[in-house]
Amino acid sequence: MKLRRRLSAPALAALACAFAMQAAAQLRAAEAPPPFTPPAPGSIPDTPFGEVVRQGEQLFINTPAHAAKFVGNDLNCASCHLDAGRRPDSAPMWAAYVLYPAYRAKNGHVNTLAERLQGCFRYSMNGKPPAADDPVIVALESYMFWLASKAPTGVKLAGQGYRKLPPPAAKPDYLRGQEVYGQYCAVCHGAEGQGQKNGKHWVFPALWGDASYNWGAGMHQLSNAAAFIHANMPLGQAGLLSEQQAWDVAYFMNAHERPQDPRYTGSVADTRAKYHDTEDSLYGLEVQGHLLGSAAPPSGGKLRAGR
Ligand code: HEC
Ligand code: HEC
Repeated sequence: MKLRRRLSAPALAALACAFAMQAAAQLRAAEAPPPFTPPAPGSIPDTPFGEVVRQGEQLFINTPAHAAKFVGNDLNCASCHLDAGRRPDSAPMWAAYVLYPAYRAKNGHVNTLAERLQGCFRYSMNGKPPAADDPVIVALESYMFWLASKAPTGVKLAGQGYRKLPPPAAKPDYLRGQEVYGQYCAVCHGAEGQGQKNGKHWVFPALWGDASYNWGAGMHQLSNAAAFIHANMPLGQAGLLSEQQAWDVAYFMNAHERPQDPRYTGSVADTRAKYHDTEDSLYGLEVQGHLLGSAAPPSGGKLRAGR
């Protein structure tokens, strides 16, 4: 071969090595999730479709006002999906849109995006699922579709979901979590996790109690809460907490009562065995002398009270 005659053995070895490195880099690039930037907030088109996208955006940031029939607490979708569902590592909507339909272990079948959104109303919003073709679902899907403009489908984009933390070095601890809470969280979320209102308008959402997400919600799982908190809280000071502090305060937060799991079977032990039999959930466990779930207000919150 011509190449072999012109190149010395060490040069050939170097060449082979360079090829190998290039191949490895290409492989890594193929494995790394691609970055994505959604369209700018002000660029929703002035068309009949854009009108519904705008409704979806409003629904997302002010959910009880625009979907009162389906919301039982005082949270907005944007309370947990920051920047109106745009922020990476805060389960952004552009990254979620391209992953559905998807199989979910939570209910053991393939979920359409509409069914996924229905679950958000039932659990995170402690409410009632709108029908799949309800204008509320149509508007949310339109907003998500628009945010995901030009994204590849079926691909996990960088920033999708909440970035899970490695397992904690020390078992999460209530008292350590309580200390973190007092130092970094209570100023906004209140000493009793009750949140803060300015008149009728909620400024800081509740973290537990009747106005919060229920025991069936993703945020009640320690790994989701620790991931969300570590990446996003205290608001405006993300990265302040160590991973251990995030685990501890997630444990403290989720060791408080919140509305009952809507799948409640009538027995806390049975409901734990059916839906919460994992280290990720404190439901049905005794913490600080209280059996979690045993004093939960019924699910449905404000809907139950006739909002
Ligand atoms: C209390 C916090 C909270 C609220 C409020 C909330 N979510 Fe979520 N959401 C989560 C968590 C945690 C997850 C991920 C864990 C899981 O799969 O359950 C999630 C996941 C999602 C996903 C899937 C994301 C993905 O990448 O697969 C979508 C879509 C979604 N939420 C939409 C909504 C919408 C729409 C609303 C308002 C109607 C809403 N959420 C309200 C916490 C919340
Ligand atoms: C400066 C005020 C502020 C501080 C401090 C703060 N938060 Fe938040 N937090 C917010 C706001 C505001 C939201 C809702 C986000 C939005 O609407 O954009 C929020 C949302 C949340 C949520 C999701 C919504 C809900 O109510 O379940 C959780 C969980 C949370 N914070 C936990 C914490 C924890 C734990 C700490 C302490 C480590 C903390 N926050 C510190 C202001 C704050």
